[in-house]
Amino acid sequence: MSAAALRAAMTDLSGRTAIVTGGARGQGEAEVRLLVECGARVLICDVLDEGAALAEELGQQFLKLDVTSEAGWAEAAARVEGRLDIVVNNAGIINRSLIADTSPDAWRRVIDVNLTGAFLGIRTCAPLMTNGGSIINISSNSAFSGHYDPAYTASKWGLRGLTRSAAMEYAGAGIRVNAICPGLIVTGLNADSPHLAPMIGMTPAGRSGTPDEVAQMVLYLASDASKFVTGEDFLIDGGFIAGAGYRRVAVETGIIKQEP
Ligand SMILES: NC(=O)c1ccc[n+]([C@@H]2O[C@H](COP(=O)([O-])OP(=O)(O)OC[C@H]3O[C@@H](n4cnc5c(N)ncnc54)[C@H](O)[C@@H]3O)[C@@H](O)[C@H]2O)c1
Repeated sequence: MSAAALRAAMTDLSGRTAIVTGGARGQGEAEVRLLVECGARVLICDVLDEGAALAEELGQQFLKLDVTSEAGWAEAAARVEGRLDIVVNNAGIINRSLIADTSPDAWRRVIDVNLTGAFLGIRTCAPLMTNGGSIINISSNSAFSGHYDPAYTASKWGLRGLTRSAAMEYAGAGIRVNAICPGLIVTGLNADSPHLAPMIGMTPAGRSGTPDEVAQMVLYLASDASKFVTGEDFLIDGGFIAGAGYRRVAVETGIIKQEP
């Protein structure tokens, strides 16, 4: 493949239609901006009204969608003109409490938004992807570990399982389904969190990631550059899950000499 053809495969989404949930801010906003920049038409879905201003700025459509609502998803499907090519199930919430402090209602809400929302998205959207396409579920690197937010972690582990199951179910329809598992990305989700500094301190890369870096991985999975890739989950976490605990031990005992 020539470099020009590869560039096109990686970055040319002209003629493609996408839905991005949680697209009003944070990583979702960065994903929307990059997909539009590459030529896709994007339906921005979010519970936040800020999505309307973003849609207007970019000349795209906005739908006030709660991803837990079946009726809301039916409305999203009705807004799609022609076929659908790309779905990014990005909407998510955190809970930030231990099991003992989590009410059953709080537990259900996190599972509903983070996991059932993606299930409804896949179930609604796959039939619209009549020429194949790419579904990308935004999980988390907490889905590779235990974590101090058990509801969030369970939802994100569940999303990895849903991703693989969906990849098997829809492979014959030419629909690829993958998950992205970010580590710490500073956004409205966590900007006020006391965990930021210790998380950055533990991250081998020595920093948090950016919404743009996650958006670039979304673009790769949305594009033809990844057309043989399905059923996978992709960590983007500065090396946290690769061995941050062992690395900390090695630094504290002087085996690794320098902190970044
Ligand atoms: N920020 C991180 O460190 C981090 C790390 C790993 C994974 N993630 C995941 O990345 C995704 C994006 O998070 P972010 O960091 O951009 O946070 P964010 O809070 O800035 O964005 C999340 C978006 O989802 C929307 N949303 C929440 N509930 C919704 C619902 N029921 N229906 C529709 N939209 C809803 C919010 O309004 C918001 O616009 C989430 O799934 C999150 O769990 C984030």
